[in-house]
Amino acid sequence: MVVSAVGSSRVTLLPGDGIGPEVVAVGREILREVAGRFSLELEMEEGCIGLTALALHGDPYPAETREKVSRSRAVLLGAVGGEQAGQTEYARRPEAGLLALRRSMKLFANLRPVRIPDALVPFSSLKPAVVRGTDLVVVRELLGGLYYGEPRGRVRNEQGEEVAWNTMVYSASQIERVARNAFDLARTRRKAVVSVDKANVLEVSLLWREVVNRVHEDYPDVSLAHQYVDNCAMQLVRDPRQFDVILTENTFGDILSDEAAMLTGSIGMLPSASLGAEGTLYEPVHGSAPDIAGRDLANPLGTILSVALMFRYAFSCPEAARCIETAVHQVLRDGYATRDLSGEGRRVVGTREMGDRILGRISVSEGG
Ligand code: IPM
Ligand code: MN
Repeated sequence: MVVSAVGSSRVTLLPGDGIGPEVVAVGREILREVAGRFSLELEMEEGCIGLTALALHGDPYPAETREKVSRSRAVLLGAVGGEQAGQTEYARRPEAGLLALRRSMKLFANLRPVRIPDALVPFSSLKPAVVRGTDLVVVRELLGGLYYGEPRGRVRNEQGEEVAWNTMVYSASQIERVARNAFDLARTRRKAVVSVDKANVLEVSLLWREVVNRVHEDYPDVSLAHQYVDNCAMQLVRDPRQFDVILTENTFGDILSDEAAMLTGSIGMLPSASLGAEGTLYEPVHGSAPDIAGRDLANPLGTILSVALMFRYAFSCPEAARCIETAVHQVLRDGYATRDLSGEGRRVVGTREMGDRILGRISVSEGG
């Protein structure tokens, strides 16, 4: 799963839309500082995606961005999406750019870790006794299911009524490769996988469950349990500590990871890493939040923690990842928070100041 440290160290930054440019600007500073401390030479270049790319090139994932991405070891993405004046054609929505990017990089596994160290416990919307010690990761399949399934479409039927449909489709090999990824990851953690499906209703989930059971035979040292997705949604807020690795399909993973994000108190906190055969992509889980864009209000921590994941997975440098993660936890422990995490006794700071405070912590930490 870990990409070797040889070869290109080119990183493409795709700021995207809404708050994307603000959080990626902070992420770029962290990348530069930490790469320097750990003597990694990175080449960074920027590309456009989403609404910004539509405006410039009439395509949410233009060829020149694709070209930059294909030359990169890693991609850091901000966010895509936002208001579009009267434009709804599927291929010209900003989100279509993100889906095309995922497809072009063959990113089949999306890792969304939710860890709540003591410094974060007070920020959670759940009781401290419930969240303290939570350390789970959602492994979301990223190239299948409803997002890419055919047939899909929309027509007016013979009665003149509008009808639309999508297909949740998986092949056994698609399930197998993401399941192997989840079991491999579990071996580096507490060795427990919960696979999430809706096998009491859906054929596609029955196949999912069978294939996951088959793959599990190769991992006798890892425990496996199955949960229905509705039950899992409930368990996540009832007792999140029961989970180590949650393995699930694309749409279920999209929904469950937003829910799991709130265990930390704000979706702005959650990083992600998407792994594939051709490079890896890092992005905060939050969206483009156009309502607060350009106002220095966005939480950059999801992006900063995504940069940590980049050091861990793309550059095989876990020390650099830990250095960033420690700095984030220290700054939160000191009481600093962006507006989404504001509360009694907290010092609310803007996007840039939060970035500067993390940088300050990194520069006084022990080097690599
Ligand atoms: C995410 C986002 C995307 C998704 C959207 C923006 C297409 O919600 O990364 O979770 O649904 O995958
Ligand atoms: Mn989502």
